[in-house]
Order: sequence, then structure tokens, then C-alpha cells
Amino acid sequence: MNATKYKRTPQSYMEMESRYGAHNYHPLPVVLSRGEGVYVWDVDGKRYYDFLSAYSAVNQGHGHPKIVRTLQEQAARLALTSRAFYNDKLGPYEKFITEMFGYDKVLPMNTGAEGVETAIKLVRKWAYEKKGIPRYEANIIVAEGNFHGRTTTIVSFSTDPEAKEGFGPYTPGFTSVPYNDLEALEKAIQTHPNTIAFLVEPIQGEAGVNVPDEGYLKGAKEICEKYDCLLIADEIQTGIARTGRMLASDHEGVRPDVLILGKALSGGVYPISAVLADDDIMLSIKPGQHGSTFGGNPVAAAVAVAALEVVRDEDLAGNAARMGELFRNLLARRTEGNPFVKQIRGKGLLNAMVINDTPESDTAWNICLNMADKGLLAKPTHGNIIRFAPPLVINEEQIREAVDIIAQSLEEYAR
Ligand SMILES: Cc1ncc(COP(=O)(O)O)c(C=O)c1O
Repeated sequence: MNATKYKRTPQSYMEMESRYGAHNYHPLPVVLSRGEGVYVWDVDGKRYYDFLSAYSAVNQGHGHPKIVRTLQEQAARLALTSRAFYNDKLGPYEKFITEMFGYDKVLPMNTGAEGVETAIKLVRKWAYEKKGIPRYEANIIVAEGNFHGRTTTIVSFSTDPEAKEGFGPYTPGFTSVPYNDLEALEKAIQTHPNTIAFLVEPIQGEAGVNVPDEGYLKGAKEICEKYDCLLIADEIQTGIARTGRMLASDHEGVRPDVLILGKALSGGVYPISAVLADDDIMLSIKPGQHGSTFGGNPVAAAVAVAALEVVRDEDLAGNAARMGELFRNLLARRTEGNPFVKQIRGKGLLNAMVINDTPESDTAWNICLNMADKGLLAKPTHGNIIRFAPPLVINEEQIREAVDIIAQSLEEYAR
């Protein structure tokens, strides 16, 4: 098939994706071709606020010059060696990230789901070697409503039928408890004495920015300690300044035993994930037992250092905290009395609006189309929840303009 037969219109790009690509996504009908800071532009040159940030991967803003320069320079010098050899970027990156987050060691991977898989393998190995759990009887507790990725093992413990149904047989070894319910967590550990870990998101992003009660993570950590279980925090979406602290766990002064990072670890220019833990746990995995061709490659290592330096040097956590508060306050004020607004919630710049309609309705989708028309991109999750997560470099003026667009779109819809 000759690709030149297609005219380069937005419609033609969408049709090409539909004709030649798998239908595993349902994108908003905009075709983007450029990004800078908090903005993206479509193929017709129309500018939008990016209020999704690629699911919080672009915390540092589109095309951050320092990150892009690092990517380009390292790709030109040495891109990939595999881990069959040492390279001169991995060690310095490992030193940098472990010192920044306060762990003995890091295991570098690529996608978020791989990071979660790595954490699962790691704690199972630890449990059989150090905790004396009978072979292959380890149990990991997870929370209902979780989203940890799309692999067969991870969807095995999803409670979202869309993510799970039709993909069995499922991997055993997981027990699900309600989110934000410490009593249920403790009871589940008592019921399953071979429990080795609790895997949890400090805020459930994909579920619709579910913010648990204050003290939930701290309480979970205490319960884990009481029963000699490990707390695994999936901070792939909440980490790296998104919620107004470097980690969402920092809000409660909790240090997870195993920390999973991804997404903004590269500022969105490259798939990079990482699992951090102390020696006692991390050294359970020996050469040949886990790895990835691309994990820890020189480009990823150099980019991750640059991306983390940007977050630190530009105080993106502080900005996320300030701008997040402003955003929620302004939005609440501007949408007061609007019949379609059920709730506004979030932390830092990970926020959501629950639309007062059923998850099956197309109300939130239509509101998002209206916002896109006015120059702001956001997407519903679970039907009636709209997530608002702009790059963390956003300033006050931009927050005010974005709130104007959101409020106007809602007003028009309510008329
Ligand atoms: C909390 C959390 N864990 C894991 C993942 C999976 O990451 P990836 O899509 O890079 O595999 C995501 C992605 O949205 C996520 O939000």
C-alpha cells in the first residue's frame, strides 16, 4: 500500500491509525505534531494546553532543552551496549538515583509494567530465600481498583473487567483488598500467612485519582512491618514531583521497602523505569535471573539523570504543590453550582473532576471534546472522571487560563 495515497489531513492520520493499527486505544480526535513546555500543537497549528502529560510522563514539560540535549548527545555517542558489558553512564546514574531516593540499589528497566513485574519477581525471590516461605506459595496483596500495567501477570490481579476479561488463565499468588481500608489489609494478611508484600499506589491514578484518607500509607507500612511483609509503592504515576512532593509517599513520611518509578523518570522522551530497594532485598536476584536488553542502556541512564536534575533544580515539586492548590481552589470557585460537577479532588498537580453522570454516559467525553475545541486536552478515565495533570512547569497565568477554558466548557455543557 502506498502511503502517499493519503492526503495529510487530520482525518487521514486518524484513518491510517484505524486502518493499520490495532484498536487498543480510543483517542480524542486530535492529531498532534509538536510540543513545548505545557503546550502541544496539532497538525493544523492549533495550540492546546496538555492536561494529561502522557499520563504524568511529561512532568518536566515537552521538549525540555536539557533533557533533549542529553538524549541527542548520548544517542550520537553510544546508545546501546546491552548489559553484557559495562558502560560509562549506568554506574553514575545508579549512584545518582539511589542517593536521591535513599536506597542501596536500583534495578533499571524500561516500561512501568516491567518495573512492576520486576518488583514482583524480586519480593518473591526474597521471600523464598530470606523469609522462608514454602516454595511457590508466596502471596502478594493488592488493592481493588489498582492499575499497575498490562502484562498477563499484572492483569491477573486487576479488578477492572476491561483490563482483565478474556486474558486468562491468570497468574495465581495475589489477593485483592479494598483500597483505603487498613482493617481489610490486616485481615487479609492474617488470612493468608504466606503474604510477603502489599503492592499499592499511594494515590490511584488510573482509577480516577483516588486519594486515600490521610494516614493510609503510613498505616499500611506499620501493618507490613508488624507481619514482616514488604511495602511496595508503585509511584510510576504519583512519583517524581507530580503530587507536590518528590514521592507521594513523602507526604506521610513513609519509606517503601520497594519503590517503583517510571514515566517522568525520562521526562517523557524515552521509556525508563526503575525499581529501588536495599541490599537485603535487591541482592536476592543474581546474574541471569532477570534483565532486559534495553534496561540501563547509556541513553536511558544519561536521560534519567538529566530528567531528575531538572525536577530538583527547578523545584517542580514545590511548583506542583502551589499550582495544584491554586488550580483546585479556582476550579471549585468557578464551577460552583454547575450540575455536572460532582467532585474535584487530587494532590499537587494530579487532579480529577468527577462528572455528575453515569460511567456509561458520554457526558465527560463530550466535555473533553468541548475543552479541546477551546484549546485544552484532557481525557476521561472510567467514563465519568476527567483527570487534570498538566506538566509541572505550568505557571499561575497558565493555570488561570486553563481554569477559564475548563469552566467555560462546563458552563456551555450545562446550558
Ligand atoms: C501506577 C501505574 N503503574 C504502572 C503503569 C504502567 O506503566 P507503563 O504503561 O509504562 O507500562 C502505569 C501507567 O499508567 C501506572 O499509572
